[in-house]
Amino acid sequence: MTDQKADSKLQLYAQLQSQLRSLFEGEHDFIANAANLSSLIYHSLPDLNWAGFYLTKGDELVLGPFQGKPACVRIPIGQGVCGTAAEQRQTILVDNVHDFPGHIACDSASNSEVVVPLIKHERLLGVLDLDSPSFARFDDDDARGLNQMAEIFIEMSEEV
Ligand code: SME
Repeated sequence: MTDQKADSKLQLYAQLQSQLRSLFEGEHDFIANAANLSSLIYHSLPDLNWAGFYLTKGDELVLGPFQGKPACVRIPIGQGVCGTAAEQRQTILVDNVHDFPGHIACDSASNSEVVVPLIKHERLLGVLDLDSPSFARFDDDDARGLNQMAEIFIEMSEEV
């Protein structure tokens, strides 16, 4: 990526973070804030076909607020990209989802993916998942920017 492109990406994430703080101002409802965050991401970041949440329920992740086509509802922790990020409690960047063992294909348009785990007081609340029709759409700057947005969301919303 050129330096100019990387700079504009960092600027976009900085802008989104401040928009997010305004959007959440005075509102702590977890589901409402998750819904608005998925919409902000989907409509602001280029080249996405899905953005949303899977929330922890027992030993599964269950579909939460999202933007994009209807998706699979339940993902066992440890399975797929989402379940793996949840189990490892680490952000996972996948350049080509077709090469990821156990990838769960919800939308056949998806070719790359990034999943950010949501952790508050050591509790796994769920994951934030973004899909793109382009290969290798997400890089370390996206991972950092999305982690910062996830932190703002967690900090400003009451857990369910
Ligand atoms: N691809 C994900 C499943 C969720 S969808 O992408 C919306 C996975 O492998 O966990």
